[in-house]
Amino acid sequence: MNIILFGPPGAGKGTQSNKIVNLFNLHKVSTGDLLRQEAKNETILGDKIKLLIDKGSLVPDEIINNLIVNILLNKSLFNRLIFDGYPRTLSQAKTLDQLLNNHNQKISCVLSLEVDEKIVIKRILGRQTCTKCGLIFNKYFNPSTKSNHSCDSKFLDKRSDDNEETVLERYKTYIEKTLPILDFYKDQNLLHQINGDDDINQIFEEIRAIITSLEA
Ligand code: AP5
Ligand code: MG
Repeated sequence: MNIILFGPPGAGKGTQSNKIVNLFNLHKVSTGDLLRQEAKNETILGDKIKLLIDKGSLVPDEIINNLIVNILLNKSLFNRLIFDGYPRTLSQAKTLDQLLNNHNQKISCVLSLEVDEKIVIKRILGRQTCTKCGLIFNKYFNPSTKSNHSCDSKFLDKRSDDNEETVLERYKTYIEKTLPILDFYKDQNLLHQINGDDDINQIFEEIRAIITSLEA
């Protein structure tokens, strides 16, 4: 099965996909994480990507498509993918369909986490990501503690795009460029809309039930 986790910045896509990956033995594909990794390399491409991310703009489709092609060629990941924050434009959605089709795969469902702008801003401004294990925490809503996180607190980091100005721009980009894709998936009967304001575990229970019903 291949799943898309959809939603605005700060909706909880990364948080939920980490939990789904563990329970269902899937492989997470976060284009945001892949781009941040490329940006760290300080190449010409990496510098260009960092500039766009820090502005809250989308990275060009061509760069994203190249990242995705490499993953889809990996046979050990066939039908085990959970896409976090991808696709983000209609063109990316159509390319993904085509690429999956070429490898006899398809999207099984699209889980859309619906959260309003005020909540996502507060979530993003409190986010802390562990640079060692990749887990995501929140100063206000979901702090890192000894019982939920085994790494040292020195690894907790704030993303460079997690500031108020960039978050507002990211949200605007989402409304203009990404949200319109939902109709594309609705028309294919793949869309599940989920209240992303709920508690993290409650949302996960809802997602677990949807995925389990797909497996049956
Ligand atoms: P990306 O890294 O994908 O960022 P995003 O879509 O803006 O989403 P976030 O990662 O900020 O939020 P999330 O939904 O994962 O929430 P999280 O679980 O962390 O992309 C970054 C940039 O890369 C883009 O702006 C763009 O420039 C570029 N890019 C990426 N993909 C691209 C593509 N395909 N095409 C073009 N450009 C692309 O949770 C947020 C916080 O809230 C955490 O602190 C968490 O602990 C907390 N939290 C989560 N759920 C809850 C809850 N239910 N209740 C309370 N708190 C919660
Ligand atoms: Mg994320």
